Amino acid sequence: MLIDGHGRKVSYLRVSVTERCNFRCQYCMPEKPFSWVPKENLLSFEDLFLFIKVAIDEGITKIRITGGEPLLRSDLDKFIEMINNHKSGLDLALTTNGYLLKEAALKLKNAGLQRVNISLDSLKPSIAMQMAQKDVLTKVQEGIDEALHVGLKVKINMVPIKGINADEVLDVLEYAKQRGMSIRFIEYMENKFAKEKLQGLSALEVQAIIAQKYAFKEIGREGSSPAHLFEFEDGYRFGIIDPHKHDFCEDCNRIRLTAEGMLIPCLYFDEAMSIKDSVQKGDVQGAADILKEVLKNKPEKNKWTEDDQNETSSRAFYETGG
Ligand code: 5AD
Ligand code: SF4
Repeated sequence: MLIDGHGRKVSYLRVSVTERCNFRCQYCMPEKPFSWVPKENLLSFEDLFLFIKVAIDEGITKIRITGGEPLLRSDLDKFIEMINNHKSGLDLALTTNGYLLKEAALKLKNAGLQRVNISLDSLKPSIAMQMAQKDVLTKVQEGIDEALHVGLKVKINMVPIKGINADEVLDVLEYAKQRGMSIRFIEYMENKFAKEKLQGLSALEVQAIIAQKYAFKEIGREGSSPAHLFEFEDGYRFGIIDPHKHDFCEDCNRIRLTAEGMLIPCLYFDEAMSIKDSVQKGDVQGAADILKEVLKNKPEKNKWTEDDQNETSSRAFYETGG
């Protein structure tokens, strides 16, 4: 079992397999970075897998593959299969923008993937295009349909931004509900890479919009998930992620690995340690030691507390996979 320096049990590893992305979402990567990490600096799937095995053997039970856009990395299904074959009963999930999912869904499902989170910020082609700065909606919707068709559990992520897609909260909610998908509304998290002056809807504003049409009750958080859940009278649940509160830090169970092998204890902090040398040498003990060191130093809270709304993350979301 992995326990951090504040006594929290850590069981969830998020692995970013690339920082590259084929979208330019305003809140994440509005412009192509000045330079991408050179391909040779990326860890191979074999190297990432060596660390993942260490992490699983130490007590990680849930793994989410993220990016950038993880489906830009070829043979992702083979990577998922490697992880899935290492241990049965793992909770294996993927976060994607959905653009390449139609072609990949069946292979991913057959490789052992169970769940997929897909970003869907708008159901209007022009607004989706404004948000991602590319004409994406048709392909994303085809990706969603195919994921459902092959039997993946699908969760939709929406980041409502005032003046862009904030008026679509109910439409996207109903789209998800009709298809048996869960949905999470995520408060926009300020970061220095995003377009300037974006203003997200607050968790309370999202609730108020939904309350205009539906009755629901709050049922709190489930396990260590950061989302606050709400339930309609018919039992359908939606979630809101409010990073400006830090109540979920108390039982945070997650750590993150970047495609270059940086092990990051908390999204909002710059501290990180590289596992690259250890895995490239096949040094299992060294990798395990770094994992424990990072856990020892995992901070107690994120930085976006309510008294400090101006805090801005200097780490790009496309590096850490959100
Ligand atoms: N604020 C909130 N959510 C973000 N995401 C990416 N950047 C941000 C941000 N600045 C979310 C998107 C996507 C997931 C990968 O991360 O909703 O679904
Ligand atoms: Fe790409 Fe996701 Fe960032 Fe959008 S939010 S630019 S899809 S990594």
